[in-house]
Amino acid sequence: MAIRKIATIGHPVLRQPARQVSPEELRSETFQRLVDDLIETMRDANGAGLAATQIYEPVSLCALEVNNNPRYPYKPRIPLTILVNPVVTPLTEETFDNYEGCLSVPNLRGVVPRYTRVRVVALDREGNQIDREVQGLSAGTYQHEVDHLLGKVFLDRVQDTSTLSTWADFERFHMAAFVERAKALVERFGS
Ligand code: NI
Repeated sequence: MAIRKIATIGHPVLRQPARQVSPEELRSETFQRLVDDLIETMRDANGAGLAATQIYEPVSLCALEVNNNPRYPYKPRIPLTILVNPVVTPLTEETFDNYEGCLSVPNLRGVVPRYTRVRVVALDREGNQIDREVQGLSAGTYQHEVDHLLGKVFLDRVQDTSTLSTWADFERFHMAAFVERAKALVERFGS
């Protein structure tokens, strides 16, 4: 396993839609090693998720994991999840204002509207079908990661650029109000 370099905003790889992974490729040693590297890199950088495009591999693969994350202390737990060829479909028109950050967009956060309930269809790293409903704050994390595989970053979805903030100023001016909203969401959805 290896910790990979993370691409930052401006690098074209982040704007390239990821290609689908075939069943043969999924079973290959190279792909399985990539999954291990993605997990290790995400954990090393304290990411809540990481998409393969962010480590310069434009394939439809992302990882999510939240476990007392120091970057996002208010996020509810997400057990380690690997999504291959994921498709996210909204199950509601209702959105919430999520204050997002991204390892590929250093020192910037901003408010992004995210659906409160989505369906996620994907394969896991063994090729088993995943079909689940994700709700609340965690639904925002899934939408953020799958956006990367479409060549999108959270900045593309920021509607009010006056919400953009460095991480220090987020903590100073915006975190308390956001944590209150996040708590209410987690209470309502349990995630
Ligand atoms: Ni990101």
